[in-house]
Amino acid sequence: MKRVTSLLLLLPCIGHAQAPSAPQLGKDPIPAIVKAMTLEEKVKFVAGNSMHFPGMRNNNNNGPVVGQTADKVPGAAGTTYAIPRLGIPSMVLSDGPAGVRIDPVRKDMPGKTFYATAWPVATLLASSWDTVLVQRVGAAFGNEAKEYGVDIMLAPALNIQRNPLGGRNFEYYSEDPLIAGSITAAMVRGIQSNGVGTSIKHFAANNQETDRNTVNTIVSERALREIYLKGFEIAVKRAQPWTVMSSYNLINGTYTSQEYDLLQTILRDEWGFKGFVMTDWFGGKDPVAQMNARNNLLMPGTGDQSKKIMEAVQSGALPEKVLDANIAGILRVMLQSPAFKGYKYSDHPDLRRHAAISREAAAEGMVLLKNDDRSLPIAAAAKNVALFGINGYDLIAGGTGSGDVNKAYKVSLAQGLGNAGYRVDPELQHAYTSYLADYAAKHPKKGFMQEFMNPTPPAPEYAIDNDLLTKKAAADDIAVFSLGRNAGEGRDRKLPDDYYLSDTEKVVIAAVANAFHARHKKVVVVLNIGGVIDVMPWRDQVDAILLAWQPGLEGGNAIADVLSGKVDPSGRLATTFPARYEDVPSAKNFPGKEFPDRATTGMFGMKSIPAEVTYEEGIYVGYRYYTTFNVKPAYEFGYGLSYTSFKYSNLKLSAATFKGKLTATVTVTNSGRVPGKEVVELYVSAPSGSLDKPAEELRAFGKTRLLGPGQSQTLAFVLTAGDLASFDTPSTSWIAGAGEYTVKVGASSADIRQTATFTVPADVVVEKDHKVLVPQVQIDELKH
Ligand code: BGC
Repeated sequence: MKRVTSLLLLLPCIGHAQAPSAPQLGKDPIPAIVKAMTLEEKVKFVAGNSMHFPGMRNNNNNGPVVGQTADKVPGAAGTTYAIPRLGIPSMVLSDGPAGVRIDPVRKDMPGKTFYATAWPVATLLASSWDTVLVQRVGAAFGNEAKEYGVDIMLAPALNIQRNPLGGRNFEYYSEDPLIAGSITAAMVRGIQSNGVGTSIKHFAANNQETDRNTVNTIVSERALREIYLKGFEIAVKRAQPWTVMSSYNLINGTYTSQEYDLLQTILRDEWGFKGFVMTDWFGGKDPVAQMNARNNLLMPGTGDQSKKIMEAVQSGALPEKVLDANIAGILRVMLQSPAFKGYKYSDHPDLRRHAAISREAAAEGMVLLKNDDRSLPIAAAAKNVALFGINGYDLIAGGTGSGDVNKAYKVSLAQGLGNAGYRVDPELQHAYTSYLADYAAKHPKKGFMQEFMNPTPPAPEYAIDNDLLTKKAAADDIAVFSLGRNAGEGRDRKLPDDYYLSDTEKVVIAAVANAFHARHKKVVVVLNIGGVIDVMPWRDQVDAILLAWQPGLEGGNAIADVLSGKVDPSGRLATTFPARYEDVPSAKNFPGKEFPDRATTGMFGMKSIPAEVTYEEGIYVGYRYYTTFNVKPAYEFGYGLSYTSFKYSNLKLSAATFKGKLTATVTVTNSGRVPGKEVVELYVSAPSGSLDKPAEELRAFGKTRLLGPGQSQTLAFVLTAGDLASFDTPSTSWIAGAGEYTVKVGASSADIRQTATFTVPADVVVEKDHKVLVPQVQIDELKH
């Protein structure tokens, strides 16, 4: 009896040992987790849970989307597939570059809101040239993501601003890869310091919206490496983003998400990327090719993709070990995620604190383009502001599409000026706000998809009555005209009434200028824009121009901070304002050509037209072109004024002969009357040996602390051989050629204040890379 009892007692344990519980993520090694997955689980795991579109059934025409789960964070762009039996949670992925993009209200939680901070757009942040500031923004941004239950931010975006008409330029940082890469690295570090991830996007050469899902970017190996990949390389090496998002376009004939040499050879083998790659939403064509290319995750994911991957594994077209490696890559990142750690998010980020950081960052990235006769800051006695332009009463906080943010409010310039103690002319305010209200009533916003496909056009500028204008010129102290522009994903900007001012805008600016100048009063233009516009025809008519970009939800307050002189403008252009659109080096190759005879039916039944664009300007993008070919822009790269002035002195190099590394030091002194910060830009002119070289390239930059009048700061910049090198196509290597180099330190690409030279005694081969992504056709590339 005794023996029977003990046997019975043992039974449950024996049963347990015979059917061991499944391995658990975090407790068991990743290979064991992957091994324990069924093939069905595997193919579902590499595709996300799809997404809901308001007013639309699921996107998948082939039956139900995989692993549809209840929304944890409604409005987030996507989620990954959970496998609870293996301890694998679902991660939440959310847009976007300007803030956490989620639904602000939830049906099941009446009375509760989920608004997010609209940060200043990327172009503004880059114009601060301040990586410390951007990292602080990133830290607050990442905290907000974490407190709203997000695991990975689909941000930052860092494609090169190749052409002013690029519809998503506001989401991107610069025309220069060093700025783009450095600012990205700072943002990634900031966001990821919270233990949430980033997805740097869109990898790569995704520089237009026209035909974005079909366009084949034809680009030389050198331009690709030096201009379009360089920023990503800097960001990966400096900040290890958790993920990278492949782009929609093709590069030299292959979709980026299907290009092994981009995602494995370059990204992982050459740069050492440790995270995983996801597609852009519905990007690419062939899920099996994407798996083989090491694009780990297909977003937002469809049942059809999983089915095709399953068939390919079964037929042997896709080795299961490749699928396993893709899964392991996602799981490795997942181990760090808040979802895996079971983080109890509050849904209560400190929005007030974040708004204050957003305001501060916004003011730091604004660029003072013109300031004749010290028209700004607004004179202390000038309290009555005549605010013109519809945009002054309706701020454009940020762009549209996935780069938009559901914010609780936005501060208009009129409100910002009011908050700063100015009296905004009430009669003007009434005229403009009535006009805007009337327009909005007549043009109600459509549904999400209709707005995406065919957005309601913004109100045209209000043609202000001349008598009212004359009256205001007599009554008010100063005129401010605010000009707005908006754009976003899905389409590029156009020249008429967008890059160029509309006729009404030109007429109103001229009329305001005439009326106020007749009374010896100043006229200031505020540009609330996300991308470059034409300034030449009107800039001489006004006294001052403040480029406020799209400054986020506190925009009006931040603009007022700069206009009033509370903050000294220390932003500098990270993108050139050309004198004429035709001067833009990519003008004749933007947005490329379409092949309508080869059109097919694509996503959502939309026409899909094959297209291609050839980057004939090669490496001569932005200032690299203007400085080398002596084309004078309206406002050059690196340019921006301040309310004070700075002197540069004592540029010293640590050696006259380069031996692997060199330090340049320079002293900057505030020689003006008010405290300010100076952006210090270090360009290098390299000897042109066998390699065609731009006249100068930005190789380092820094920003001083706030310097009081008379105060100085010495900045040090380290240059390595890599900083001097160019990509030599025949040898697929980075070479710093022998010869004499000039270090040029200054306040813009054209305003060089100090120079010094050093010699590289013999060619230095910095790195040998793989011969990959070779163009399939001859490119008639611009050479100097
Ligand atoms: C955009 C991405 C975005 C994704 C998810 C795509 O249309 O190109 O930048 O992250 O949607 O919303």
